[in-house]
Formats: sequence, structure tokens, C-alpha cells
Amino acid sequence: MLVLGIETSCDDTAAAVVEDARHVRSNIVAAQDVHREFGGVVPELASRAHLDLIAPTVERALEAAGIRFGDLDGIAVTRAPGLMGSLIVGVSYAKALAAALGRPLVGVNHIEAHLLAPLLEGAVLAEPFAGAVVSGGHSEIFVVTAPGRYEIVGTTRDDAIGEAFDKVAKLLGLGFPGGPVVDRLAGDGRADHFAFPRAMRGSGDYDLSYSGLKTAVRREIERAYPGGAPPYDALFTADVCASFQAAAVDALLTKLEAAAQDHGARTLVVGGGVACNRRLRAGLAAMGERLGVPAYTPSPKLCADNGAMIALVGSLRLQRGEQDDAFLEPVANLDESGLIAV
Ligand code: KG4
Ligand code: ZN
Repeated sequence: MLVLGIETSCDDTAAAVVEDARHVRSNIVAAQDVHREFGGVVPELASRAHLDLIAPTVERALEAAGIRFGDLDGIAVTRAPGLMGSLIVGVSYAKALAAALGRPLVGVNHIEAHLLAPLLEGAVLAEPFAGAVVSGGHSEIFVVTAPGRYEIVGTTRDDAIGEAFDKVAKLLGLGFPGGPVVDRLAGDGRADHFAFPRAMRGSGDYDLSYSGLKTAVRREIERAYPGGAPPYDALFTADVCASFQAAAVDALLTKLEAAAQDHGARTLVVGGGVACNRRLRAGLAAMGERLGVPAYTPSPKLCADNGAMIALVGSLRLQRGEQDDAFLEPVANLDESGLIAV
């Protein structure tokens, strides 16, 4: 079974072909450069760029998979959550394509796709499993008790963790997106140099908070460089990156570990763009060893937004005999999506 997966929920236009819910035949991501100069995603620019990029990106995905439109057995598309204008482009395109080809259409929840992405690399996700989806727009901790039963047990009370990486990078004049460069520079810095707060540590739940950490970083920079502007001294920048990254990642891992232990998790999964982070990956692997359970983070191409994870979840739904119709509508908000059973 060959399924096309289309992803346009945020600022990446992505398309991929997955065979039999397992083999990634192609995985094309057209990143939108238009947001760089603004230091963040501009929703209106994102939907316009999706309009320009969607048809060529799908064509590239089919070409790289060595197939034609007529070979597809189904069309999967991100339905929720995301930026409404961006979701509409993908869903409209997918509906038209499914109708033109006479193939089934399936709407996919982007968050479920991030959590299940390790299945494309041979993971076995034994329930109950604990997972986190961490990106520019998400910081959620889940417990999955049975296939399709996702319970959000913790979430951020303010900024998402990826947003915090991006904002700290901006404060340090490191460009956008900030995560990859903060991760890289942190390798040259001292994680214990600045004592940044691990917010919500004793809150007694699995919630997170990142706005206080971002403010603490800004104050530290202002103290070292009153009235200054980046670029700052390289060692200072590296120390801020390392200390911030340690605080941000450790806060997440502490809450994930608590959720995993309290719910008897048999597997750990972390997905989303921030799951590319080296400290997070090492910390999760160590947690898996401590708890004696397998711990999965997808390879970087499957962590960040991509069409392959959408095609995967679409394939699983098609295999269960499920599909959507031409009335499929995008849903911006996770809580209203109705796709995550709590
Ligand atoms: O999942 P994703 O591609 O898109 C969404 O936001 O939905 O995630 C992008 C986010 C950005 O905030 C980016 O800075 C962050 O993931 N990111 C990282 C790393 N690579 C990407 N954050 C920390 N360390 C990284 N290595
Ligand atoms: Zn995402």
C-alpha cells in the first residue's frame, strides 16, 4: 500500500510516500525561508508559501519514490492542530487530489504522527507508553494507554520549549530557528555556569513553564552587557546556551520521567523538532536505561515536521478501514480536534 502524506501545519511544506505503513520511499521537506528575517513564523506568509510550494513538493515526493499519481492507494494530510491558513492549503490540496484520483482521503492529527514516527524505524511501542511532543508550538507530555488512546497529562503553562530555544537564540543574535545553533554552541559551554531555574519542579503535576527561564536568560545578558547588543563574547554565549539548554531539557525530562513512572510506562518516545537536541537525546536514553524500558527518538529527519509521519498514521487508519470524506475540515486547536481521545 502506497500512501502520500502531506504536511502543511506550520512553516514547512512537506510531502512523502510511505509503503505498507513502514518503508519511507521518499520524504521531501521544503523549508520556507521567508520567516528568517522576522525571527519567527509569520502565519500569513506561511500560507502563501504553502500555496506556491505544495504542488512541486508533492511532485518531488512522487518522483523520489519512483511512482506516479495513479500508483497511490491513499492520500493522508495533516488535519490538526496548526495554523489555520496553513492547514487549509494542505487539506484543500489533498481533497482535490483524492477526488481527482478516486482514492481514499485520511485526515491525520499532527501530534499523533510525531508520537508514532519511531514506527517508521522499527520501534515497538508497547502500551502503556509515555511520550512528549516538543517543538516550536508544542510541549506536551502524553500517556498512551492503548492504540489511539492518548491522554495529555502535562503541558506548558506559557511558551513551548522550542519557542524558548528560538527566543534565547534571538536574544543572543543567533538567528532563526534557534534550536540547532543553541544546541551546537552549547557543546562549547558550561552547563553549570549559570544557575537558570528549573521551573515547576515541585508543582506536583507534569506541567512545564518556559517564560520565566527566558526572562532569567535575558536578565543575565543585561547584567553582563548593560545596554548592549549581540554579538556577545563567544565563551559567554556558549555558557548561556549550555546553561539554558540544561535547564530547558532537564525540566522536560524530569516531568516525563515522573509521568512514565507514575503510569508504569513500558516505552518512552520523544518527537518534534526539539527531539533533535543532543542533550535531550542523551538524557532520554539514560532515562530508558534507568527505568529498564526502550526509549525512542526518531532520526532528525523524522523528528522535525515531515510528510512521512503523516503518511504513516494515514496508512494505519486506512488499514483499520477508516477514511474521511470531502467534508474533512482542518481544525487549528488540539482540544477541539476530536482526534486525541482523552
Ligand atoms: O517540529 P518542528 O520542525 O516544527 C514545529 O515547531 O512544529 O520544530 C521546530 C522547533 C524550532 O523551535 C527549533 O528551534 C527546534 O524545533 N529545534 C531544536 C533543535 N532542532 C530544532 N531545539 C533544540 N535543539 C535542537 N537541536
Ligand atoms: Zn510538529
